Amino acid sequence: MLTSDILTRAVETLRRGGVIALPTETVYGLAANCEDELAVRRVFAIKGRPATHPLIVHVARAEALPSWARHVPEDAWRLAKAFWPGPLTLVLPRTARATDAVTGGQDTVAIRVPNHPVALAVLDALGGGVAAPSANRFGRVSPTTTEHVRADLGSDVDLILDGGPCTVGVESTIVDLSGEEPAVLRPGGLAVEEIERVLGRRVPVRTSATVRVSGSLASHYAPRAGVVLSEPADVVTRVEALRAQGQSVGVLGPPGLTLPAGVPRYDVPDDPAGAARALYTRLREADERGHDVLVACLPRAEGLGIAVRDRLARAAAPRPSEG
Ligand code: TXA
Ligand code: MG
Repeated sequence: MLTSDILTRAVETLRRGGVIALPTETVYGLAANCEDELAVRRVFAIKGRPATHPLIVHVARAEALPSWARHVPEDAWRLAKAFWPGPLTLVLPRTARATDAVTGGQDTVAIRVPNHPVALAVLDALGGGVAAPSANRFGRVSPTTTEHVRADLGSDVDLILDGGPCTVGVESTIVDLSGEEPAVLRPGGLAVEEIERVLGRRVPVRTSATVRVSGSLASHYAPRAGVVLSEPADVVTRVEALRAQGQSVGVLGPPGLTLPAGVPRYDVPDDPAGAARALYTRLREADERGHDVLVACLPRAEGLGIAVRDRLARAAAPRPSEG
């Protein structure tokens, strides 16, 4: 998938301050060399994201932690050992290597080792860290294929690396280890239950934290269509009610779901991991069809189902403004 030519181009692009789209197991990232402030600023400009929103530092291995975090608690090493490379981001007190441009001026840094051969090859060859938010415009759903990246960012990026469709499909789980007690700031591609198993205690989910997490804005993962949430048993009633109001309706739900004639279904499996993998692609497909409303069937609230429900709830939240 990644020839040595393309790898060389990618690393050279990053070294000279360019911005590339980088596949990870969760979603595609919009990557710049962390230590190049102008390049990092360009990431914010391309995304249209406020510069105060901090970015995640991606590194090739856990051994790099002490160069980015001035204190690495035992819990961080345990989680890193258990889940890296993988869909887990740790928030820790930063060193000076994590600049204001990356951390949005906060005293903490978010860091992870992604589990994707292309990302790992690039990070290894670069030898440093890349700051990479999801490679979508601010407020849109994250991209899980290169087609999504092209549709959102097109020629604004210097290079798009193709790593195939993302295998996890939702963003990493963010765990804050900078305070007294660990807390989940964003449920994501690693189940909270798994984190609790390794730490041997309950870890609260605290999505409306005082730290700035752009994914925690009310309507962050918003398609153009309106989104209505539904438990599986109520989907048909919801659809009928919306159609009676003259709305064009599509349904995001499992293949087994029977719908009234003429209502398209965009398959989102009901097993939580399958739902996570399919969610953003189906949301984009459904959105392209120009429905007024998408009725989204909620997966079980366990494992990755918690992240899927979180993203659907944000997609359904009131929008402060369009566009
Ligand atoms: O899976 C992922 O995490 C993907 C891939 C590309 O790695 N990246 C991603 O980045 O989702 P982004 O920028 O879309 O979301 C990063 C989240 C934001 O909500 C940001 O506010 C939060 O991480 N974050 C970054 N630094 C933080 C910090 N120091 N404290 C708290 N939250 C932080
Ligand atoms: Mg994002």
